[in-house]
Amino acid sequence: MNRFILIAVLLALFATTTSESQDTESAAIMSGTIMEAMVVTITPASDIIWGVEDPQTDEEWQVLDDAAATLMESFEATRKGGGGPNDDAWASEAGFQVYIDQEMVALEQARAAIEARDLDGLFDAGGELYTPCEECHIDYNPAVSGEEF
Ligand code: HEC
Repeated sequence: MNRFILIAVLLALFATTTSESQDTESAAIMSGTIMEAMVVTITPASDIIWGVEDPQTDEEWQVLDDAAATLMESFEATRKGGGGPNDDAWASEAGFQVYIDQEMVALEQARAAIEARDLDGLFDAGGELYTPCEECHIDYNPAVSGEEF
């Protein structure tokens, strides 16, 4: 085979593979799926809680409270399943629901700490928030456990 044709064929193959994997990735984040809630809402909102430094003003505390409220809403939605291929099967599992219950307790704790302007309490609640993320991923989606959030 002519070397230039070979290179062209290889490039074409490479381009196909790349665009296929991008399609798969965007398909995995279909709207209304648990995956979408995790990536688009839950991860950035929990990063706000975990990234807390030393809030001073009411506005700074409000950002944290908004993030906690967003997380509660999003976990409540996740509880009901979603449009992803495995979402309803996951949501029907008692163990899955228990992890969401634990997130709710952690978030209640976070909001109480925010209300009381209690930074140490908020750090503790952040730790409580993290454990079910990890454990639910290990039980229901081993491929995603150990991800950096
Ligand atoms: C009740 C179970 C459960 C809890 C709790 C949970 N997740 Fe998830 N998470 C999942 C499942 C299931 C998936 C995989 C969804 C899929 O593949 O369709 C996932 C996927 C993800 C992903 C996408 C990983 C990837 O492959 O790109 C991120 C990021 C994520 N979760 C972050 C979090 C964070 C942060 C928390 C805690 C604040 C959390 N999750 C709590 C069940 C959970």
